[in-house]
Amino acid sequence: MCGIFAYLNYRVSRTRKEIYETLVKGLQRLEYRGYDSAGIAVDGPNKTTTEINNNSICLIKKKGKVKALDEELYKKDSLELDTELYTHFGLAHTRWATHGEPSPVNSHPQRSDKDNEFVVIHNGIITNYKELKEYLITKGYEFESETDTEVIPKLIKYVYDNRENDSVTFSMLVERVIQQLEGAFALVFKSRHYPGEAVSTRRGSPLLIGVRSEHELPTEHIPVQYNSSHLKEGVQEKNSHNRTDCPNAINSVGDGRPVEYYFASDASAIIEHTNKVLYLEDNDIAAVRGGNLSIHRINRQAGEDPVRAIQTLQMELQQIMKGNFDAFMQKEIFEQPESVFNTMRGRICFDTNTVVLGGLKDHLKEIKRCRRLIVIGCGTSFHAAVATRQILEELTELPVMVELASDFLDRNTPVFRDDVCFFISQSGETADTLMALRYCKERGALTAGVTNTVGSSICRETDCGVHINAGPEIGVASTKAYTSQFVALIMFGLMMSEDRLSLQTRRLEIISSLKVLPELIRKVLSLDEKIKTIANELYQQRSLLVMGRGYNYATCLEGALKIKEITYMHSEGILAGELKHGPLALIDKHMPIIMVIMRDACYIKCQNALQQVSARSGRPIIICCQGDSDVTKNAYQTIELPQTVDCLQGVLSVIPLQLLSFHLAVLRGYDVDCPRNLAKSVTVE
Ligand code: AGP
Repeated sequence: MCGIFAYLNYRVSRTRKEIYETLVKGLQRLEYRGYDSAGIAVDGPNKTTTEINNNSICLIKKKGKVKALDEELYKKDSLELDTELYTHFGLAHTRWATHGEPSPVNSHPQRSDKDNEFVVIHNGIITNYKELKEYLITKGYEFESETDTEVIPKLIKYVYDNRENDSVTFSMLVERVIQQLEGAFALVFKSRHYPGEAVSTRRGSPLLIGVRSEHELPTEHIPVQYNSSHLKEGVQEKNSHNRTDCPNAINSVGDGRPVEYYFASDASAIIEHTNKVLYLEDNDIAAVRGGNLSIHRINRQAGEDPVRAIQTLQMELQQIMKGNFDAFMQKEIFEQPESVFNTMRGRICFDTNTVVLGGLKDHLKEIKRCRRLIVIGCGTSFHAAVATRQILEELTELPVMVELASDFLDRNTPVFRDDVCFFISQSGETADTLMALRYCKERGALTAGVTNTVGSSICRETDCGVHINAGPEIGVASTKAYTSQFVALIMFGLMMSEDRLSLQTRRLEIISSLKVLPELIRKVLSLDEKIKTIANELYQQRSLLVMGRGYNYATCLEGALKIKEITYMHSEGILAGELKHGPLALIDKHMPIIMVIMRDACYIKCQNALQQVSARSGRPIIICCQGDSDVTKNAYQTIELPQTVDCLQGVLSVIPLQLLSFHLAVLRGYDVDCPRNLAKSVTVE
C-alpha cells in the first residue's frame, strides 16, 4: 500500500543532503507496506543559502526500490547537496499501483502542471476521479499520468487560479478540494505559492504527524478550529462562494520557534525522530504555516472531540529493526514466545486464574447479553477467528459467526442492535474490515477491535477492544500477529466464562496451558533445522496441499496462505472432512501434502483421512504430537510437536508452516518480506 512521508524543518538548519536522507529513510521505514515505485518533491536549488526558494519545486521519481531513487538523487549534481536550508518542506512517497502501471510518471508526487505549482502525495483511491478529470479537461487542464491521484493537484490549481483574492490560504484551498473528492485518502500538499508551508488531510486512510522541538511542546492537546460555512456542490460554485476563512494558525505547536514536523502513514517512519505524535481524524486539515501547526475542519459533528491529543509513542526503533535475522518475517516468527507472552502480560493472573482485558471489561455485561458474536477480518486475521470459533462458542455459550469482511459486506449481512461484532486486524487499517465496522455501527451493534496498532482507525472507531501487544509486524506475511490474535480471542472467551460453574475445569485447563505456551513455542521453533531440510526437498514443487480438521483447520488455511503468499507456489488448506467430496482426486504419489493430525476429538477422523491418502500412494508430511507412533508409521516425513490443550494446539501447529513457507521462499529466491503484488496494509477495498 502507498506510503506517505513528509518532512518540514522550520528555522532548523539542514543541508539538502540531510533533507534527502531524512526523506529516503522515511520511505525505507515504510517499504514493508509494499510498493512498486517511489518519489520525492523538494524545493529547487537556489543560490541563496538561507531563504526558502519559492521559484521551483523539483520532482525526482523512480520505478522500483527506494534504493534506486536514492541513487538517482546523488546522480543529480545540480541539487547542491551542501546547501543549508533554514526552512524547507519535502514530500516523499512509495506507490503501490492501483490506477496505471508502475512508472515515473504514475509515481507520486503528482503535480498540477509542468511548473509544479502544487504537488501532492496520496494514499488511497479517489473513486470519482473520472468525473473530476473530465471536468478539468474541459477547463483546459492537461493530464499526464494514468493515476486517480492526478486530479487532486490539478483541482487545487484550478481552485487557486479561480480564487477570489490573494488572502486565500493554502489550507482553504485544500478544504475546497477535499469537498469534491470521493473515496479514501491521506494527502500531503506542497506548493511553490506557499513556500515552507505544509497542508495534510485524511479520509479513510491513516496519517499522523510527529513533532520535534527543542522547546517543550506548549500543550498536549491541539484545539480543532471549525468553520460554520458550507460550500455548495460543484466545482464552479465552490470557487466563487463566500465562506468563513479558516482562522489563522493557532499557536498550539510551534509558536514561531524552531520546530520539525514529520508526516507519515504510520509511526515506524517517525519514531526515530520523535515520539510525540498526533493522529489525524477523518476530514481534519492540518496546516503548518510560519512553523505553527493548526487543525481545522468544517462544522463540528455531534459527539466530536474538539481537541487532538499529542501522544507519546512507546515503540522503540530497535523494535522495528531486523536484528540478526535475514528477514523481518523470520525475526517475527522467532519473536512469538515473547509476543504471545506480551499479549497475556498483566491480563492473566495465574495465581487466581482470572483474566481481565481492560479494554473490554466495562462492556462485559452488555456482551454477555448479546444474541450472537460476529467475528470479522481478512486474510490471516480471519483465520484467527476461524481458529478460535469453536472455543468461543464453548466458553461464551453464544452463537459465533466468523466472516470475511469483503463477503460480509457483499451480502449485506443482517446485523442487529443486540449483536456484538469483533473486528480483527493487525494493522487496524484494512479497508474492508473498517467498512464492515462502520456498517455494523450504523446498525447499532456493539463493536470491539482486536488490533496490533495503537491509534489505528479500527482502534479509534470501535466502542471497545483489545490491543494484542505483539509489537510492530513489518513482514507482509503476518505471523506473530496471528498467534497473538489467537491468544487474545481465547482470553476473551475465558473472561466471558469466569462465572460459569460448569466451565471451570475447562477454563483452568486452558489457563494453565497458556502459562507454559511461550515455552512450548520455543520448543517448536527449535525444529527450524528439520523444517529447513524438508523445505529443501519441496522447494521445486509447484503445489502443496495442507490438510486437517477441527481445531487445526485454521492452521491449514493459514499455512496455505503463508505458502502461496511468499513462495508463489499453489497451496490449499483442505478440511479433511471434505476429502472424499473432491480433493481426494488430487492425491497421487507426486502431490506434496502436509497433514496436521493432533491428539484431539478429531484424531480418529484424521487418521481415516490419512488412510485414504496413503491408499492413493500419497506420501504425507505429518505434523503431529511428539511420539505418536500410530501416525508417524504412515508418514513420509514427520514434524512432532509438544502437545497442549486442544484449543491452543493451533498456536503451535501453525509455526512449522510459517517456518516452512519462509525457507521455501528463500530457496526459491524471493523477497520474503515484500512478496510481489501484495501490501502490508490494504487500505483500499
Ligand atoms: C497475511 O499474511 C496477509 N498479509 C493478509 O492476509 C492480512 O492478514 C490481511 O490483509 C489483513 O490485514 P490486517 O490484519 O492488517 O487487517
